[in-house]
Amino acid sequence: MIRASITAVAGFLPENIVTNADMEKIIDTTDEWITSRTGIKQRHLENDPNKATSDMGVEAVKLLCKKRGIKPEEIDLLICATVTPDMVFPATANLIAAKIGATKAWSFDLGAACSGFIYALTTGAQFIEAGRYKKVVVVGADTMSRIIDYTDRTTCVIFGDGAGAVLLEPSTEDVGIVDFILHADGNGATALHMKAGGSLRPASHETVDNKMHYVYQEGQTVFKQAVYNMAEVSAAIMEKNNLTDKDVTWLAAHQANKRIIDATANRMGIGSEKVMMNIERYGNTTAGTIPLLLWDYEKHLKKDDVIILAAFGGGFTWGAVYLKWAYDGSKVGK
Ligand code: UT7
Repeated sequence: MIRASITAVAGFLPENIVTNADMEKIIDTTDEWITSRTGIKQRHLENDPNKATSDMGVEAVKLLCKKRGIKPEEIDLLICATVTPDMVFPATANLIAAKIGATKAWSFDLGAACSGFIYALTTGAQFIEAGRYKKVVVVGADTMSRIIDYTDRTTCVIFGDGAGAVLLEPSTEDVGIVDFILHADGNGATALHMKAGGSLRPASHETVDNKMHYVYQEGQTVFKQAVYNMAEVSAAIMEKNNLTDKDVTWLAAHQANKRIIDATANRMGIGSEKVMMNIERYGNTTAGTIPLLLWDYEKHLKKDDVIILAAFGGGFTWGAVYLKWAYDGSKVGK
């Protein structure tokens, strides 16, 4: 049986760091409020107007190829999960592939907001499991700062910019992506969305004046749905695969709010020492959070570690992935 295994992971964060103290200078907020309500202490925001999502993706994929010792020409398929593409079209994945010289790859974007990475990962895995491809790159990248209203204090404090990437390769060992459960419910669309810029409401003076090109989020509605659904789907994938809390080595959950992640770990019955966390440094980078977690924790990961990936986000979209890690991360350089 062929499984799709993650054989390398890399990431990229823009240099510019904005701390909670910096946020205090631009909106009516406090470090205490942001820290206690979300767990976030700082975020990286791209301040070069000429840089966009593809540029972060390029840096992540370049590092990925270097770490694995492969040439971009060897990539068969490149998928980029993002809701902040450089342009509405062409796909940001195409731009990344062209900039790095992935000449053999075909490429496309996948838009599932904060669940984008797990949607893209499981999509890419199908091509490996089918025996069709040997090297699939999955990027999760978002430049959230370009669609955030920095006068909306509830929303602007939580988001950051960043990109992560993984390489999927076939394995016949008992490692790789074992199972997944994914969900979508478009009835949740209006609780977390961007009102204009699509075919329903194209850009106009009116849409700009009414700030309709920014993230609109009903925080509490999304919070309640996220707590319930991310916890339930994580428990469901454990139950489906007869996993107990002792079997799970790590939880890598979408970094939207520390309280949501804690509730998920609690529902799974696992202690905080098993929970990957970097929200305090990066905030919510949307499709970037899960690959960035894997990148940050790579050095601690051992072959056969059981990792549950979990996410909830705009759409609504949510799901969980049961993954067995394929290599000893301590032997790999950052
Ligand atoms: O990643 C995709 C999915 N997204 C999520 O999972 C996000 C889910 N939602 C959340 O994480 C939380 O709802 C937020 C962090 C966005 C907001 O936290 P909350 O505890 O739900 O706050 P709230 O919106 O209910 O506001 C509570 C109070 C309000 O004041 P009053 O009405 O009680 O006087 C807000 O005006 O906190 C106030 N507030 C702030 N105060 C200081 C809201 N934002 C801020 C702020 N600084 N930045």
